[in-house]
Amino acid sequence: MIFKPMQHKAAGLPHNPLKAIVAPRPIGWIASRGSDNSINLAPYSFFNALSEDPAMVMFSVQTDSPDHHKDSLRNVEETGEFVVNIVGEAQFDSMNISSGNFPYGDNEFIHAGLEMVDSESISVPRVGKVPAALECVHYDTMHLPRNAQGGGYIVVIGTVTSIYIDDAVLRDGMVDYAAFMPISRLGYRDYGRSSDIFQKNRPGQE
Ligand SMILES: Cc1cc2nc3c(=O)[nH]c(=O)nc-3n(C[C@H](O)[C@H](O)[C@H](O)COP(=O)(O)O)c2cc1C
Repeated sequence: MIFKPMQHKAAGLPHNPLKAIVAPRPIGWIASRGSDNSINLAPYSFFNALSEDPAMVMFSVQTDSPDHHKDSLRNVEETGEFVVNIVGEAQFDSMNISSGNFPYGDNEFIHAGLEMVDSESISVPRVGKVPAALECVHYDTMHLPRNAQGGGYIVVIGTVTSIYIDDAVLRDGMVDYAAFMPISRLGYRDYGRSSDIFQKNRPGQE
């Protein structure tokens, strides 16, 4: 079957399979602070690392209209900082709660019963007990093309300024996936766990 983007229904598919095809995706659980000092927390699975040195990450924010932006984007543009929290199994339900549509200024850490832990390099807190977190400063914002209804996505790019890893997920100085167990986003309502890990050398590597 071949079809054009957003024409899945005409092709006989009830739901858009794009996110199921581009899966698994890591979840960037984004903490941010507004210029009024309010704290915000929300998950973004259009999220990834872009580069290692310098370390850069991105997340992509859906907008229905040019004049309404989600709280995370508003905050990052206002104060220029954010924390990417990695969602471990223990944080899954809290992550889901934090995706609720709360009014601007509501703190999802409180709604989800989460502890705010001070960051090293920025004023935005990370989520307590997460396996890892990346402290970031805003590098750039890229407005992707809008659709016919005026909706679209705005990509936020950040430079990582400090990295937190829970010592409990390290074994022999390396991340132990069994302990780390980041939850990933698949398509539809599906999520995944990285529970079947294997190794392979690249050509020429010992
Ligand atoms: C697992 C998961 C992944 C999500 N990924 C995205 C995403 O990549 N982009 C987006 O705009 N919304 C995404 N959402 C929805 C936002 O989390 C939701 O709209 C949230 O209310 C935004 O919060 P904010 O306005 O506080 O930033 C996702 C929700 C969940 C549960």
